[in-house]
Amino acid sequence: MKKKTKYNVAVVGVGAVGIEMLRVLKSRKFPVGQLKVFGRSRRAIDVDGQSYQVDELNSDSFKGIDIALFAGTEGEQGAAVTYAKDAVKAGAVVIDNGADFRMDKNVPLVVPEVNPGDVKKHKGIIANPNCSTIQMVVALGPIQKKAGLKRIIAATYQAVSGGGSKAIAQTDGEFKAWANNEPYTGEKVMAQSIAFNIFPQIGSFSDNDFTTEEWKMVKETHKIMHDPKIQISCTTVRVPVRNVHSEAVYIETKKPISADAVRALLKKSKGIVVMDDPKNKIYPMPKDISGRDEVFVGRIRKDPAVKTGMWLWIVADNLRKGAATNAVQIAEELIKS
Ligand SMILES: NC(=O)c1ccc[n+]([C@@H]2O[C@H](COP(=O)([O-])OP(=O)(O)OC[C@H]3O[C@@H](n4cnc5c(N)ncnc54)[C@H](OP(=O)(O)O)[C@@H]3O)[C@@H](O)[C@H]2O)c1
Repeated sequence: MKKKTKYNVAVVGVGAVGIEMLRVLKSRKFPVGQLKVFGRSRRAIDVDGQSYQVDELNSDSFKGIDIALFAGTEGEQGAAVTYAKDAVKAGAVVIDNGADFRMDKNVPLVVPEVNPGDVKKHKGIIANPNCSTIQMVVALGPIQKKAGLKRIIAATYQAVSGGGSKAIAQTDGEFKAWANNEPYTGEKVMAQSIAFNIFPQIGSFSDNDFTTEEWKMVKETHKIMHDPKIQISCTTVRVPVRNVHSEAVYIETKKPISADAVRALLKKSKGIVVMDDPKNKIYPMPKDISGRDEVFVGRIRKDPAVKTGMWLWIVADNLRKGAATNAVQIAEELIKS
């Protein structure tokens, strides 16, 4: 990308991720020249007391835009499938939060703490990985470099904000109905009810009875870590937490490494905060992590039964590091390169 002092930026989508994108551009002081915000309809929105004009997106929206951050819905009728190519044609680099281009061979899938160099391989579109993948690879990246990774088994505890603004509204509505001793009659966008419940289904069921979310964690991790041989298996679960995903992750390394060595390694690694003092009840929890940009790791412990086995508890804000922050960090890499 041509060096400039300021870059014209478009944010597409003003749902759970798009709003966070506007906050992150501001908090990280990204050198924004002109900022354009797009949704499906024209209106003004307020984010933390600042008003933004939202315009209706169309194929001519990207004239003069250098970087287009897409946070619209996915799939056939989604914003990225419909408009990303128009943005590229107009000269913008697209950074897309959805799943539409992630596994495309011509599209780099980037987590700046793990594979920043892949940004340079872009041909107009760069993909942001899935939220549950991002936090896992940030925590495991330094371990992969130091001791190699043979196997990863993960169970996730994913917040409702991962399902977008309608999933947040369903959750609020269900709890409110319960508090008023009334049935919930609002829109249902999740596979099950969520108040006082958890359910092991994020996305739809796919190959070998794993869900699409579980396959994202497998395939995206292989692509980001440049190692398709890592044996990865996951169960992804929705929990009644408003924001911030947690993951219990079991790994087997190629070379043995102690829990103390992993703690020391992660402490000095970019983008990671180690919170690991279980005797004093210190470990990361969603209530403390919302709004933070780093990935938090605790409960680091060796499996006494397996020489190279280890457990980690990995927690991150899915709307920030799992989406908006990672996308803006990719944009920062892009203007550096
Ligand atoms: N939520 C997460 O934790 C998370 C994490 C990683 C990645 N992602 C991905 O990020 C993307 C956005 O997710 P979200 O949670 O923010 O969803 P969301 O809350 O449902 O918001 C979607 C936004 O996209 C806009 N939109 C949809 N179709 C559009 C179109 N054709 N043209 C213009 N705008 C369009 C909507 O506009 P209107 O407001 O005008 O209807 C809305 O503002 C999805 O691809 C999702 O998979 C989400």
